[in-house]
Amino acid sequence: MPHSRLRIAATPAAPKALPVAKPIRQLEPYKAVSSLEHIHQNPQVEPHKIDWNEATVPPSPRVIEAITAFLGNTHHLNWYPVLNSTNLIERLALFHGVPGDRLLITNGSDDALNTLCTTYLDGGDRVLVASPTYQHFLVFAQSRGAEIVHHYAPDPFATDVDGLVAALERTRPRIFYLVNPNNPTGTLYTPAQVARLLEASPETLVIVDEAYSEFAGVSAVGLLHEYSNLVVTRTFSKAYGMAGLRIGYALARPQVVADLRRVFNPKSVNVLAQVGAMAALDDQPWLHAYIAEVDAAKALMAEWFAARGIECRPTPANFIMVRFEQAPWVVKLLMEEGVYVRDRSHLPNLAGFVRYSVGTVDQMREVLARTGRVLDTLAAPVR
Ligand SMILES: Cc1ncc(COP(=O)(O)O)c(C=O)c1O
Repeated sequence: MPHSRLRIAATPAAPKALPVAKPIRQLEPYKAVSSLEHIHQNPQVEPHKIDWNEATVPPSPRVIEAITAFLGNTHHLNWYPVLNSTNLIERLALFHGVPGDRLLITNGSDDALNTLCTTYLDGGDRVLVASPTYQHFLVFAQSRGAEIVHHYAPDPFATDVDGLVAALERTRPRIFYLVNPNNPTGTLYTPAQVARLLEASPETLVIVDEAYSEFAGVSAVGLLHEYSNLVVTRTFSKAYGMAGLRIGYALARPQVVADLRRVFNPKSVNVLAQVGAMAALDDQPWLHAYIAEVDAAKALMAEWFAARGIECRPTPANFIMVRFEQAPWVVKLLMEEGVYVRDRSHLPNLAGFVRYSVGTVDQMREVLARTGRVLDTLAAPVR
């Protein structure tokens, strides 16, 4: 390019920022803090990333084999994926024993939650949330201009069917969001209890988020044929160890799935996730072995904290909650030890609680050893 063309004209006045849509104006950016950057900056310390409830091990070897074999045909990357993931729908329909028109495959279950909010919420609609819970759902609902009504159980670690029924009858929300088992408290509602909630407000779309359901062995999927206002969301991110591939799904009655498809982009789920998810489903022994390992590690951790007189709340999911006098300090010092946990101590009713995701027994022994060092440091007299 001739030099003269590179001359820069007088700086124009900064353009006025384009105003964002009204509901977005009220939103604080979601404060997602990833530990990956810190992990990459400290390669000398073996990390234990137990802050986002991912699996702590890679997925079944069959997932890696299937993806590697799939990449043997290089065209598989320049073509768009199978539209609507019908290949995976076929497998999941068999797996859950439901017709395929009850399934929507999405980019992680977050995408299913977002699509539900886009499809069903208008500005000012009420959304009832069993809180404290998974925070990102609030962003999806608020970005549609919905009004969030939180229901806090008197004991955050106990179910509260009566309280929720009363809240449903009082608020008659457009959507009710229940994480089951809940993140981060682990409360678990049985299918019979979920049925009571579905009956309390039949006009309400009840989203049961089952991101951790494989660990708990409890699911509301069996209620789908009876309750037309139920949507269940599931994911391959947690028990299947595939968070990086971003794949999840929603189960609902056919009319709801058809409505979700009005906005859903049929080519948005990537090919490698489709192939990986099918292989993961085919390896149920791997899944059950990992769940058994997590159960053993949870028991070990509960015993370790109890022996030290520290309050520990195991959950039916792959995490536990531990209460520390100086939670933010524990979190900071653990990070220096290469252990990345999630501070939940600022959430309502959870003062002092820190969430540890649970992995294998060997990994958790090491996590406990490092936790012990941190507690010794905090207990040492200041000189
Ligand atoms: C309750 C709950 N729902 C959904 C998600 C998001 O999962 P996905 O990776 O499937 O989008 C998470 C992730 O932490 C979660 O805890």
